[in-house]
Amino acid sequence: MAKKILIIGNGFMGTRCAGAWPDAVLSGKIITSVKDAEDLLDEHKPDSVLNAAGITGKPNVDWCETHQLETMFGNTVLPIMLAEACQKKNVYLLHMGSGCVFYGESPDPKGWKESDFANPSAVYSRAKYAADLVLSTLPNVGIGRIRMPIDYISSPGNLIDKLASYKKVIDVENSVTVLEDMIHVFAQLLEKQATGIFHVTNPGTLKHKELIALYKEYVDPNHANEWITEEELVTTGLAKKLRSNNFLQSENLEKLGIHMRPIKEAVVDTMKKYAALKKASN
Ligand SMILES: NC(=O)c1ccc[n+]([C@@H]2O[C@H](COP(=O)([O-])OP(=O)(O)OC[C@H]3O[C@@H](n4cnc5c(N)ncnc54)[C@H](OP(=O)(O)O)[C@@H]3O)[C@@H](O)[C@H]2O)c1
Repeated sequence: MAKKILIIGNGFMGTRCAGAWPDAVLSGKIITSVKDAEDLLDEHKPDSVLNAAGITGKPNVDWCETHQLETMFGNTVLPIMLAEACQKKNVYLLHMGSGCVFYGESPDPKGWKESDFANPSAVYSRAKYAADLVLSTLPNVGIGRIRMPIDYISSPGNLIDKLASYKKVIDVENSVTVLEDMIHVFAQLLEKQATGIFHVTNPGTLKHKELIALYKEYVDPNHANEWITEEELVTTGLAKKLRSNNFLQSENLEKLGIHMRPIKEAVVDTMKKYAALKKASN
């Protein structure tokens, strides 16, 4: 990449992107003010910033339901502070958004569009959407919304590891993001300094059942789990709030000529690589 990239937030996504972009700088510095953000920009003098910092909840997003202020700070106030610093210093900002701001059926049968108003329910998704609403009014800012990351590298945030670890799994179908493709898309958005909202999800949809079937085919033929409905997730106490399940369309990446692999192709490739890495590490 020709542009000098600064990645803010050294969690799952920030670290994964930094691993793929050897020339990028990864900052784990905690930012609590616009001044902190300006100082960081002065220190590294980037052309483009990826905001991979945020609050996703530990052990999971249900944490956000009772930690509203921390969630608002990390997912709404922090992106606004970063955007303000970037505007002042004339630096492009790509903010990591979430496709989980949409719940259920989309107005268009082909899926939720970048231009659709969202209908977030959980504290996490409301806070993420609040940032999207205001950041998308600014010049020199892009928002890359991802969903349910799938990767060949094992990690607690990887949907493969998550689903494989659950005894009871919900039988749902979603738009999802293969991280290898996301990294490629983010690199192009940062390079082009593309503005607007982008649904960074692979074309097509994936059922949890399909992912588990591939896991059984390539990783562990003896894997077993029980299937439950979305509602049972909450009624059995496994989650506090219903999770967002949805189909997204990605019109704005296509307009820039940026493509992601169809999900069925990308997920088979990812599962094969995941299995090979697992085998090599045993
Ligand atoms: N993972 C997903 O499934 C997913 C899906 C859609 C969107 N996203 C978005 O992608 C972004 C990154 O998510 P992730 O999965 O990488 O989460 P993560 O592993 O929790 O990483 C987030 C990082 O941000 C840091 N951070 C929090 N507040 C900060 C602050 N004030 N200043 C600087 N750093 C701060 C966290 O530090 P501490 O650990 O010290 O708190 C952590 O290292 C988030 O905006 C998330 O909403 C993620």
